[in-house]
Amino acid sequence: MKKRTMIIYAVILLTGCMIAVMSGYSQEDVTTVEDSAFENKMRPAVPFLHDQHNEMAEIDDCNVCHHVYEDGKPVEDDSSEGQECSECHTFNKGDTPMSLVNIYHLQCKGCHQKKKAGPIMCSECHPR
Ligand code: HEC
Ligand code: HEC
Ligand code: HEC
Ligand code: HEC
Repeated sequence: MKKRTMIIYAVILLTGCMIAVMSGYSQEDVTTVEDSAFENKMRPAVPFLHDQHNEMAEIDDCNVCHHVYEDGKPVEDDSSEGQECSECHTFNKGDTPMSLVNIYHLQCKGCHQKKKAGPIMCSECHPR
């Protein structure tokens, strides 16, 4: 009987931990790229499991994507995490909407092409 009580306690404890971890994750974890600057989207949000992606791709430095520039050069030990790409890469007067699209494609697709890993076809990133 004692053993059974212990098992029950263990199960309760474990479930508690799992719920805590999962709710923590669902608050923090980015699962899509959905820049608020695209008001009239042509395509659905791009699936992007932020943490899982970066682990799989073995990217350690946040500023590989969340970069900061000074005098036209990327700053090594600073990052713009928490800022949307469009906060800096804005649609300026005269810009076509494609310019913000381009910086996303340059960064995402560019690295996939360089590393010969990760999706490069439209439909792989933009599911119907
Ligand atoms: C492969 C590129 C890439 C890397 C590497 C990366 N991020 Fe991100 N991150 C993104 C993209 C894309 C978004 C979504 C941008 C948006 O639409 O807000 C994002 C969003 C975020 C957000 C905003 C979350 C929210 O709720 O809006 C934070 C915070 C963040 N990243 C932190 C980090 C940290 C910390 C690291 C390093 C451990 C990191 N990122 C590495 C691409 C990256
Ligand atoms: C704090 C401002 C800032 C933020 C936030 C930012 N960028 Fe940039 N980015 C710049 C600046 C400045 C340059 C260099 C000048 C230029 O080319 O516009 C640049 C250059 C680039 C380039 C061309 C050079 C390269 O690194 O390949 C790409 C692509 C790019 N950014 C993509 C992104 C993406 C994608 C995000 C969001 C994950 C992002 N940027 C967030 C400021 C920013
Ligand atoms: C610095 C390099 C780099 C950048 C930047 C990058 N990726 Fe990747 N990505 C990879 C690599 C490497 C893989 C393959 C990982 C593997 O399969 O081991 C990958 C795999 C993927 C996959 C398939 C695996 C998964 O996580 O579902 C998707 C989807 C993806 N990337 C989307 C994106 C998007 C969207 C962006 C831009 C916001 C982006 N990536 C930016 C390197 C990068
Ligand atoms: C590696 C992943 C990747 C690939 C491959 C890719 N895209 Fe994207 N694309 C993105 C990301 C990330 C965004 C930004 C999405 C957002 O913030 O809503 C984007 C944005 C867009 C947008 C603007 C947002 C919208 O829905 O209107 C268009 C249009 C688009 N892509 C078309 C294409 C086309 C066409 C192709 C093939 C030639 C393609 N993309 C290939 C990742 C990708």
